[in-house]
Amino acid sequence: EAAEKAGFEHFMMKEIHEQPKAVQDTLSSVVKDGQIDLSEIGLTDENIQDIDQIYIIACGSAYHVGMAAQYVFEDMVRVPVRVELASEFRYRNPILNPKALAIIISQSGETADSLAALRLCKENNIRTLGIVNVVGSSIAREADNVFYTLAGPEISVATTKAYSTQLIAAYVLAIQFAKVKGTISEEQYAAYIKELETLPDKIQRIIDDKERIQWFASKQANAKDVFFIGRGIDYAICLEGSLKMKEISYIHSEAYAAGELKHGTISLIEDGTLVIGVLTQPALYEKTVSNMVECRSRGAYLMGLTTFGNYNIEDTADFTVYMPKTDPHFATSLAVIPLQLLGYYVSVAKGLDVDKPRNLAKSVTVE
Ligand code: AGP
Repeated sequence: EAAEKAGFEHFMMKEIHEQPKAVQDTLSSVVKDGQIDLSEIGLTDENIQDIDQIYIIACGSAYHVGMAAQYVFEDMVRVPVRVELASEFRYRNPILNPKALAIIISQSGETADSLAALRLCKENNIRTLGIVNVVGSSIAREADNVFYTLAGPEISVATTKAYSTQLIAAYVLAIQFAKVKGTISEEQYAAYIKELETLPDKIQRIIDDKERIQWFASKQANAKDVFFIGRGIDYAICLEGSLKMKEISYIHSEAYAAGELKHGTISLIEDGTLVIGVLTQPALYEKTVSNMVECRSRGAYLMGLTTFGNYNIEDTADFTVYMPKTDPHFATSLAVIPLQLLGYYVSVAKGLDVDKPRNLAKSVTVE
């Protein structure tokens, strides 16, 4: 096992470090000479033209990819998107649009609820597309079309590199759908692809700076509660950051749409409660800052996660992590990295079993 960990203490840390390559490999599999090519996936331009609704169905972190992808698809493609928890989807007698595409996201391709949701879509003659990491898995075999993520085997129960590659698959699909449907210009198309190609390096730069997060994590290891707040795509990032924290560090954490704080959560903020504000979306920056200020005035200890250049966050936050600039649609790919590292280092500081957290399995094959 030590050899398999390639010198890292845990699989999770190894897999965090594999993200630049996993993202690069997934991107290279579908982008050739600056053009997206979905021919191996089997989605033709005519298929894409016909789609007027998208369902994204998944569990856990894969569902969080769907939450981020929803914003990207709706903004770029102007097609309505519903993101569904697979475990809920099939129990509510869903009204399904026959011209919809159902995208099922799953690392393992074996998650029971996701597989059942896929089958329900097929019974209703809805086209299904699996975004799957494990070749030949049940979801890959049964979906009409498959977009394989090239993350390689993921051992740690807490997903990192599979999540990152699923995001890439979603971006690529959104960009191509937007091109085919004519909702973006040729220039915009080229610019988006160019920006995607910068992500592996930017992810690497964040990983290279991990010691700062390790230091911060060691001070937070005794936290009782952590709140992650953000709006729009930042809220989707919060959902994943919070899951990373709770699943491996056993610290209670919640992700909240920042505007919802006043509707309940803010009563939980006490002296010293850690609140992490995620601020990657320029249009929402000031709004989230003011929500952070509200938390601080109730005693919260604030961490900010934002883009280089937003240095005035230091007037508000007690500790800040900066990430390289990218197009706001793709910010999830960068912002998630420090949050993975934070969950990891808190778990290590508490002496927990990082790769095999209690009560959890890598693949949930029962309902
Ligand atoms: C995330 O770290 C978890 N391991 C879990 O939420 C996972 O994403 C979920 O169980 C879905 O698994 P799948 O991608 O294999 O379908």
